[in-house]
Amino acid sequence: MAAGRASTWLITGASSGLGNSIALKALAAGHKVIGATRDVEKAKSLCPEFSAKGGIWLGLDPAQKDAYDQFSKYSQEYDVDVLVNSARYAIIGGIEDTSEDEVRDQMEVNFYGALRSVRGCLPTMRAKRSGHVVLLSSIAGFMASPGRGTYSASKFAIEAVHESLFLEVMTFGIKVLIVELGAFRTPFSRLITPAQYDSGFSDAYKRTVIDQTVTLYRNMTSLPDFVKGDPDKAALAIIEAVDDGYEYLRMPLGTDCVEMLEEKIERLRRDLEANRGIAKWTEMS
Ligand SMILES: NC(=O)c1ccc[n+]([C@@H]2O[C@H](COP(=O)([O-])OP(=O)(O)OC[C@H]3O[C@@H](n4cnc5c(N)ncnc54)[C@H](OP(=O)(O)O)[C@@H]3O)[C@@H](O)[C@H]2O)c1
Repeated sequence: MAAGRASTWLITGASSGLGNSIALKALAAGHKVIGATRDVEKAKSLCPEFSAKGGIWLGLDPAQKDAYDQFSKYSQEYDVDVLVNSARYAIIGGIEDTSEDEVRDQMEVNFYGALRSVRGCLPTMRAKRSGHVVLLSSIAGFMASPGRGTYSASKFAIEAVHESLFLEVMTFGIKVLIVELGAFRTPFSRLITPAQYDSGFSDAYKRTVIDQTVTLYRNMTSLPDFVKGDPDKAALAIIEAVDDGYEYLRMPLGTDCVEMLEEKIERLRRDLEANRGIAKWTEMS
């Protein structure tokens, strides 16, 4: 996409948080913006500014099985140039305490929902040999931590899809951007804990790191000070990258994200060095 040209953005999770910031900043930058939400009336009352500034709300739930057909239809109808996937929720809970149904529900939104939107929009982008697929991921999609295994699994999985896609669609002039986010000051209202336990964890995990993590999130009445990210600045950085061009796959945002990425890279390097010899030894001589 040529720098400076107005383009059409389709954003999931546009009624809240980072999706909402990107929607409003993209409108301000002169782009046409389609905001996907599960509840248009609620979105309109949450963010009247969006319609007032020319944004178009679309009632669409990426977690529903028919979402692929809807994304296909709307991406053609609006001739979408940029898809941004922001919709998600997060389970905070231990692996053993989280039911299989809860894991599936998490994947349905964070993984299949994003996948449906990507597959639905690609034909439109391929036809014009340009486009951007932007995934709002998380440092949790690169480094898993206790109590966030299920959420991380959904983000690791959808990052894998985008990493493959990056290599698959460059031949069609389509670019892929994975935004690795640290902690940003969004409503953070969509955190749930395993339903089968009143406290969010089983007795076996009392006084463990799972107890600490779940209790911290459940007792959170306002955002803690360590959450430093400004969603509007993240939105501006993403819009600038798309408008002006970028030559990378992953864009880390937030100092906390950079530090954790470095920690993960260091851990990988340690494991690699510890096993370099044995890796070679397992080859046929
Ligand atoms: N905030 C952070 O610190 C942070 C950190 C790392 C990564 N991220 C990533 O950034 C993105 C945005 O996060 P945020 O904090 O800005 O989000 P948010 O304010 O919680 O908004 C999430 C959006 O997801 C949609 N959504 C929630 N539950 C859904 C469900 N069950 N099915 C379908 N859609 C659902 C909602 O849209 P509707 O209700 O309008 O449908 C909502 O607008 C996410 O992908 C997240 O993983 C955020």
